[in-house]
Formats: sequence, structure tokens, C-alpha cells
Amino acid sequence: MGQGQLRGVVALDGPSGTGKSSVARKLASALDARYLDTGSMYRAVTLAVLRAGVDPDDAGKVTEIALGARLVVATDPLRPGIFLGEDDVSGEIRGPEVTLAVSPVSAVPAVRELLVGQQRAIIADALDSVGGIVVEGRDIGTVVAPDAPLKVYLTASADARAQRRTRQDVAAGRTSTVDAVLADVRRRDNYDSSRAASPLRAADDAVEVDTTSLDLAGTVGAVLELVRQRGMRVTG
Ligand code: DC
Repeated sequence: MGQGQLRGVVALDGPSGTGKSSVARKLASALDARYLDTGSMYRAVTLAVLRAGVDPDDAGKVTEIALGARLVVATDPLRPGIFLGEDDVSGEIRGPEVTLAVSPVSAVPAVRELLVGQQRAIIADALDSVGGIVVEGRDIGTVVAPDAPLKVYLTASADARAQRRTRQDVAAGRTSTVDAVLADVRRRDNYDSSRAASPLRAADDAVEVDTTSLDLAGTVGAVLELVRQRGMRVTG
């Protein structure tokens, strides 16, 4: 309602459970823009690895699977999704098996190179067709779209993140407890920030937004204000 249309790329990075996906989707739909969830691409490759019976720690075999996987990403923020070929895997990639195996898969440099190339092509297509896209992940501001005119790095306390993830799991019908999720959040934070290839970190020119005590509307409002300040909206 009256937000105008987004021009350019908004890069939204941060660890899991900071509300990135919900914020990115809301922002993209408020601004008539496309939405790209890059984590879903690492998850889909991980699912392909598991389906092939390949060890997620075997970088060579993981790379072969990634090269052979045909990822199709839907970027409508009202109906996002991801396919392996014809197979809609949007639900299955959120399961515990994939969540457990995605860190080693996403640490393989050849997998990152391949997916970053695909992500840049999706971004270029969105800029050509609708003019704007909100991209969420871990390395968007640092690697995928370092020239994005707005980079936001979302943070929140580990407790707040674990509580959010647990609520999402329960809402999606997956069994989950805050303690187990907190342990998983910490494990993945550690892994994602200490890996050699594109570790999770804020770009030097990213604006940090702490969402610990913000709800979804509050966080979206804060990012919309940054979009406005950067002159990235066109009206009419
Ligand atoms: O955002 P998510 O939890 O769906 O991401 C799944 C995993 O993929 C996460 O553990 C880190 C990895 N990831 C990444 O390395 N780079 C990205 N741009 C997005 C996700």
C-alpha cells in the first residue's frame, strides 16, 4: 500500500532465526519486487546429495551432484518455491535431515561458485523484468551482490532465534524443542562463520538491524525506511 516499487537489489544477510525469510518476503511483496531465498538452493542441493546416498562430507561427490542438479527457483514473494527438475521440494528441504547436512554441503567452494553464478543470473533477470529484488542469505552483501545499494545484516540473540525457529517448526508440523533448536542454531552459526569459503559475516557497508525485540512488522518497517532513505523506490 503506497510503498512504491523497488529499484535495485536489497541484500539481506544474517544467521538463521533472525526473521530473514519473513522479512525478505514481506519487503518484496510490499515493494512489488522479486524474492530470492538462496538458502533454499543450498538446501535443495543437499537434498539431492542425500537422495543419491552420497556422504555430505565428500566434497568431490557433492560437487558432482550439484553440477547435475537442475534447480528451478520461483521468485514470486507470494508463492516462493524450489524444484529439483519437475519435483517441488519446497517442503522437504526444511526437514531435519537436510538441516543437519546443509552446512558441509554449503562449505564446498565448487558448490558455492556454481550457486552464486545461478543466483546472479536470477538477480539479473529480476532487474531486467521487474526492476527490483530482495535477496536473502549469508553472503549476499559480501559475495553475490557486493554492489547492492542496500545491504542489511539482521541479528538477534541466540535464544530469540531458537524460539522463532521452534515456532516455525511446530507451525509446519515438525517436532521440535527450544533446547534442541538452540543447539542446532549454535552448531550452524559456528560452522557457517568459521568455514573457509565465504564465511557468514556482515559486509563493511551493511546496516545492522537487531531484531531481538522487534516483531515482523517492526523489522520490515525499519528496512523499508532504509529503502526509502536510499532512494530505491519509484512511485506511480
Ligand atoms: O537460511 P537457511 O537456514 O535456509 O540456509 C541453509 C544453510 O545454507 C545455512 O546453514 C547456511 C547456508 N547458506 C549459505 O551458506 N549461503 C547462503 N547464501 C545461504 C545459505
